[in-house]
This record gives sequence, C-alpha cells and structure tokens, in this order.
Amino acid sequence: MASNIHLRHRLVKTIRRFLEDRADFIEVETPILTRSTPEGARDYLVPARNKPGEWYALPQSPQLFKQMLMVAGFSRYYQIARCFRDEDLRADRQPKFTQLDMEMAFIDSEGIMNLVEDLICTVFSKVVGINLQKPFPRITYSDALSRYGTDRPDTRYELPMADVSKVVAGSSFRVFSDCVAAGGVVKALRVRQGIRISNSRVKAKGDVFAQAVNCGAKGLVYIRVEEGKKIVAAKNVVEGLSQEQKEELLNVCDAEPKDLLLLVAAESMHHANRVLSDLRFFLAKDLGEFRETDDALVWVTEFPMFEWNDNDERWDCLHHPFTAPSPATIPENGDLTGATALAYDLVYNGVEIGGGSMRIYKRELQMQVFKTIGLSDDKAKEKFGFLLDCFDMGAPPHGAIAFGVDRLAMLLAGASSIRHVIAFPKTTQAECLLTGAPAPVKLGQLDDLGVRMQTKDAGSES
Ligand code: AMO
Repeated sequence: MASNIHLRHRLVKTIRRFLEDRADFIEVETPILTRSTPEGARDYLVPARNKPGEWYALPQSPQLFKQMLMVAGFSRYYQIARCFRDEDLRADRQPKFTQLDMEMAFIDSEGIMNLVEDLICTVFSKVVGINLQKPFPRITYSDALSRYGTDRPDTRYELPMADVSKVVAGSSFRVFSDCVAAGGVVKALRVRQGIRISNSRVKAKGDVFAQAVNCGAKGLVYIRVEEGKKIVAAKNVVEGLSQEQKEELLNVCDAEPKDLLLLVAAESMHHANRVLSDLRFFLAKDLGEFRETDDALVWVTEFPMFEWNDNDERWDCLHHPFTAPSPATIPENGDLTGATALAYDLVYNGVEIGGGSMRIYKRELQMQVFKTIGLSDDKAKEKFGFLLDCFDMGAPPHGAIAFGVDRLAMLLAGASSIRHVIAFPKTTQAECLLTGAPAPVKLGQLDDLGVRMQTKDAGSES
C-alpha cells in the first residue's frame, strides 16, 4: 500500500511537471460546493443552512467551470480535481475520486490527442520505466463494438468478432434464421489457428461451450475452416448454409484455413457482445494470448452524440451535453440524433482511463442539444444560463479531456482494485470503515439545516 501511495505521488508530480513546465498549463481550483453538474450519475447533496430547503451539490466533475475559464482567457487549464458521484461502485470506481482535469482553447482534437500522448508517454516512462510507441492506435466506436463487443476494448490480444446476422438470415439453419427474424443477431468470434481447440471442448459438455452458456448464451455453434473455403461443422449447420452464404460468412469473419469460428445467436447485439466478450477473454487466457505485462493504449473515437433510452423513451447523451457534434455528420435539417460526437476516450488494457471532447461554444447549437435530450428552453436557461451567457461574450473554440488518476495509478501499480491506490478508501457500500462515515448526526444539527429525517421502515418522520 505504501509503495502504491508513493507511485501515485510520482504520477501526480510527473503530470504537474509536464503540464506546468513543458506545456504552459496553470492549475485553477474550482468550487466543491456547487450546483448539480451533468455527468449522469446521482449527486451528493449538501443542505444549505442559510437557505433552508436549498442544496448544494458536490461536483461530478469541474466541467462547466473549466469551460468558463476558457471564455475568461485562461487558455490552458488543469486541475487535480476531486469529483463525487453517487453511483454503484466496482473495482475501478469510487464515490469520491480524483481526476486530472484539463481544458484548452484554440486547439482541435488532433492537437489535444497529440499533447495527451506526449503526457502519457512521459508518465509511463518516468513512473514505471515503460517506453510507449506513439501515435497510439485509434478505433472508431462502431468498429470497437463490432470487433471487440465493447467501447473499452482490451487490445492486448486479437480474437475479433463479426456480425454475421445478414449472412445467415436466409439460411435454413433455423437457430440462426429464426433468431434474426425475431429481431436478434448472430455474431461470430474468430480464433486463428483454432485447431488448438478440440471439438470436444466446443460441443455441449465441453468447457468452452459451458463458458458461453455460463455467460448467458443459449448454445454455441462452431465452424472450422479448411483449405479451399470448405467448412466443417455440425451436419445441420453445414447443410443449412448455401455455398454462397458459407463464402460470405468466411469473408465477413476474415477467416483463413485452420481458423475456428464460434457463433452465438442472441436476442440483442448487447447480449451477443456480452457473451462473446467473456468468451474472448476466457479463450485469450486459455490460449496464452493474453499477456498481463503488455501495455495496450487505444483511442476510441467517433462516438454517437446520443443513444436512445428505451426505459424513459428519450435521447441521452453518450458523453455529456457540452460535447460538440462533428459538423460533417449534421444533416441539412439540423436533426442531431444521428450525429457523431467530436469525442475521444483513451483505453488502457480494457479500462477507460480518460475521456474528453471538443465543446460546443455557441448558444444556438447548445440549445439544440438540450432540446434533443428533452430539456425545455426554460429549464436549460435555469440550469445552464450562466454558461449560455458566457458563450454570448465570445467563447473561443475549446476542448478537453479528463483522466481518472486513481484508475491510472491502479493500473500502473498493477493493483487489482482502485482501493489499493487510495489512502483511506471507501468500501463498495461507500463507507469508510476507519472513521465510520457516513454516520448519524444529532437531530439539532438537522434542525439547523431545516432537514427532517424519514425512517425508511416505518415511513415516519422524526
Ligand atoms: P468522465 O465522466 O468520462 O468525463 O470521467 C473522466 C475519467 O474519470 C474516471 N472516472 C472515475 N474514476 C473512479 N471512480 C469513478 N466513479 C469514476 N468516474 C469516472 C475515468 C474517466 O475516464 N467532464 C468529463 C471530461 C471532459 O469531457 O473533459 C468527465 O468527467 O477514468
């Protein structure tokens, strides 16, 4: 633990030295007691004693403040910033975490990504003695999902996937055609030199089959590729696919002789991706293709601006509502729902360590984004009027990125949980076992704040 805390210190020191001494950034502290900030998680709220019934929110990120700093002329800002998000916790999430938060004016995404690559290379070399290759590879969001089943691909190993729904939709192998007809998908995982995996492992009762089923698949279909684009598989699969479909399948999967294709039919793309992602990881380990010591950094780009939220029947932002759409993807009618965002995430060994975007800096476009996510003009002005007013004063083009310092420290230290690089971390229940926080307070304190407590069980107030 002590050596992890030292490593974390070296990480932050290297970041500060690079940004301040080599890249002309200044650090500015932004408020902790503020209004709700829109990163999509639940807020931590603090009652305002002087204004009974009103609340501060702890910042989920310094997003709006850093944009306003750009308008104010601080064209290169950074902050080692505390952020608070009341969300479900996992090994790489804490309710209170630290971001390396940056914002720059008069720069485009290429400029930001270049600067970040220099910073990350310096960090790896100074903190853990690893020399990374620049430029980092890039993959679009849609390629990442289709090839790796996730927008946080672990590119230390290949084992790519391919959507073969269209190819098999017309086949007489009913498992596939019925699934596609019912709105489902069929996706394949390609294993180069699949002869390393025996038939007994991929058939029912085999461990690879069991792994797929454990991950939620109804079954697993295997196809072996032989010389001359011949395929070997169960009889009903071979007979159910026409010669054309077989060839197309091999093309779509970019399959070569000796490859093994593992296919799942699933009710949705999300489901197929989940099963095949798990299977991909399982096989990478099993085949010895997964090397813990590799360092694979990859940019994920070209995110959609919005995704449809089925439950609430509305569009949600994939990043946040201040992200700029790529102008080339806005149709003439101005409908933004299909636009691509000028956003980029940096993924390290399958973990998102940073994310950012170019920003909107004009009131009209900002209002249009608010409208798309169902925020009325009045609500938008009430919540974000101060930012919109800033835009009217002449905002420079600007963009940014923020890194999870704890996550980066965890990965550099080779730790299995973010808790191992945080002095006094919280549990997954967001508790501090040392101090006992959160803890009850005296009722008098609540009276001062104008807050009344409701006990959950009885539904009564005290
Ligand atoms: P985002 O929400 O992607 O972007 O957060 C940036 C980075 O912060 C880290 N992170 C976390 N680390 C630990 N615990 C958490 N609960 C947690 N949540 C996020 C991740 C993530 O990549 N304002 C934007 C950035 C911008 O557009 O400039 C933002 O906060 O490593």
